[in-house]
Parts: sequence; C-alpha cells; structure tokens
Amino acid sequence: MPFWTFIWTAIVRIWTWLADLLDDAISIVVLVCGGRDALQQQSFDLADLKVIGKGQCGQIWTRVGSGLVIKTNNPGKEDQLWNDCCMHQVIEEAIRMTNLHRVIRNPQFGYWARLTDGFWDDVPEDIKPDIEYRYGLVSSRIEPVTEGLRRDIVEAFAPSSAIKRTILADPDNRDCLVRLYLGRREKGLDKQAFRLRNFDLSVNEMEELQLNTSEFAIDMAITLAILHWSARVDANDVEFVLDRNPILDMPASAMDCNNSNKDNAGFLCQDITLGKRHNVMWLLDFDQCKRFTDDNAGVKQLMQSFYFNDPYYPRPQANDINDVALWATFRDNYLQASGLLTDSLMPDRFIEAVEAEERRRRAGGSIFH
Ligand SMILES: *[C@@H]1O[C@H](CO)[C@@H](O)[C@H](O)[C@H]1NC(C)=O
Ligand SMILES: *[C@@H]1O[C@H](CO)[C@@H](O)[C@H](O)[C@H]1NC(C)=O
Repeated sequence: MPFWTFIWTAIVRIWTWLADLLDDAISIVVLVCGGRDALQQQSFDLADLKVIGKGQCGQIWTRVGSGLVIKTNNPGKEDQLWNDCCMHQVIEEAIRMTNLHRVIRNPQFGYWARLTDGFWDDVPEDIKPDIEYRYGLVSSRIEPVTEGLRRDIVEAFAPSSAIKRTILADPDNRDCLVRLYLGRREKGLDKQAFRLRNFDLSVNEMEELQLNTSEFAIDMAITLAILHWSARVDANDVEFVLDRNPILDMPASAMDCNNSNKDNAGFLCQDITLGKRHNVMWLLDFDQCKRFTDDNAGVKQLMQSFYFNDPYYPRPQANDINDVALWATFRDNYLQASGLLTDSLMPDRFIEAVEAEERRRRAGGSIFH
C-alpha cells in the first residue's frame, strides 16, 4: 500500500473515531501512523486530547500520537472556519498542480467535521472547553522544530541561564513553531517575555543563527506567486513558519508523473526521514484568504494583504543593506514565478503597489489603516 494511501486510511479511521465518539466514549480504536508494519490499533483515553494552540478563529487540539489536529471555531467564527476549510482545499490543490510545489509544505487537508450534540459530554472535565464547539477542521499536524534549532534559539536569545533551563524543560515549549519575520529587524529586544511556543524570529536573529535568509525569501516569494496566480487568493493573514520536515511530502500530481520518467522521478519517491529530520518552511492558516478580481481593486486588495499580515515578507526601501538585497531577491523571484503562472500584468502592478505604499509610509502617510 503506498504511504499516501496509508495516510488517507489513517484520516478515514480518525473520521470513524469522531463518529464513534458519539456512541461510545469509553474505548476508541484509532490507527497509529508509522508505516505498514507499524500499523496497529490502540485503545486510548479521551484524556489524551490536548490543546496545542489558540487563535482568534479557534482552538487547535491534537490527540497525542495521532499526527492529526482538529481546529474548532470560537463563537461567531463558524463561517471563518468554513472559509479556512474551503481555502485550504483551493490552496493545497493549487500548490500541488504547479511545478513549483516543492518549495513549501502545508498541513495536509483532512476533512470538515460537524461535532453533533453530546460530542463534548464525554470529554474529561479538566480539558473540557467552556464552549461546546460545533465544527472542526481536521488536518495533519505540523511537527515542532528540531531539538537542535530549539536549543540554538534558547541559547542565543533567552535572557539568563536559569531561564534557559526552565524553558527547555517546559513540555509546552516542545510544541515550538517559529514564525519567519523576514520583514522585521530589531535591535536590543526585550526578551523577558521569552516563550518558545510561538517564536517570532526576526531577520537579524536568523542571521545570528546563520540561517539562510535568501532561501527563505525565495521560497516565500514563489509561494506567494502560487497563492496569487494559481490559487487566485489574496493570501491575507497566512503564516510562514519553520518546523520539522514532514515524514511524507505532498504526493506527486498526475502532471509530475507525466513530466518524469523512472530514472529522474526522485521526488515521486518519498524519503522516509525518521532519523535525519530537518526544518522546512510551512504555510498555514487560510481562514482570512479571499478571492480577488483582475482590476485596480484586486491590486489594492493584494497590496493590503501584504501589509496587513505579520511581517513575514521582506520590505522594500529598507535601511539595512541585507534587507535591501532580500527585497530584491523576493521581488525578482515573485515576478519570475508569477510569469510562469499567468500572462497578466497584475504581478508587476502588485509589486509596484507594494513599493508605492512603502514610500507613502516612509513619507508619513498611508492609504489605509
Ligand atoms: C543561501 O541560499 C542562496 C539561494 O539558494 C544561495 O545562492 C547562497 O549561496 C546561500 N548562502 C549560503 C551562505 O549558503
Ligand atoms: C505530458 O508530457 C508531454 C511530454 O513532456 C507533454 O507534451 C504533454 O503536454 C504532457 N501532458 C500533460 C497533460 O501534462
């Protein structure tokens, strides 16, 4: 059985798990991912459910060892979570259908779950949420950054050795996700509020850790081009984070197969990298993405989404010489990748709009905010 089929089997089983919860909360059978021989069934307790993240749209849960997460919506955010679901599909398909898809990973879309009345009744009191969430979006779980990078970050940026030890010992900090802020350069940061769980890594800190910022800028630029011109969404509020490479990469598309033969189809095989994991860039959070039109309003929407987002992208007109180079790398790669995906002049107009907005900001004004 191909591994991808295997993962899907796992997802289907989890679906069954959710359905079973309604009837039988005591003993649940799930499939544990790990390879065909490791295929095993386990009983587990609902106490294994834990919250690993909270955002303005919802809460992220996982079941220890399952390799899946479920995102449940906050009150009033039902439609936003549904948008997340639909946009996740659109974006995942678009990434897979381009020749450029090896630059970015995204959590694999699972399914949409309606958590019917009574779903939460059987969850132990200590982890039961205040809210009876009604909907869930299931996708694969991103694994935290490697132990090595986690230590490097703590070593370089935690305020004192005592705190370093506490941080590394705190199990919550194992779920470490690193936001890549290529558009922020900071000096003399206040690290008193140092937390690893969602760590915002500024470009100067990447340099300090000797991470290759050009590579990040290239991958981000190509990904943004795919979101704009293949998925045709504005990429509003998406996140670019560094985390461990997936055990299984996105499966090859029919086009990938057609463009390969048995000797050069390296990427069609999956490297099972259980032993030597490294960190790669991931794209996530699609709940704010919207469609746009091919006109002035569309250009403005793309530009605003660029600036509304956290400072992931390099910025034009920077002061620092490295940042100037980083913007050039980003812009050139964005335009080059966009050129492969569309004949329209919209990509150039988007870049011009971003540069013009930065000039306005530097002159003390801005067309929005
Ligand atoms: C960083 O990555 C870029 C793009 O892949 C490459 O050209 C450059 O040589 C790399 N720099 C270092 C120091 O490895
Ligand atoms: C498959 O590959 C051939 C040769 O490279 C190409 O001519 C053809 O257009 C491709 N077909 C599809 C559906 O991509």
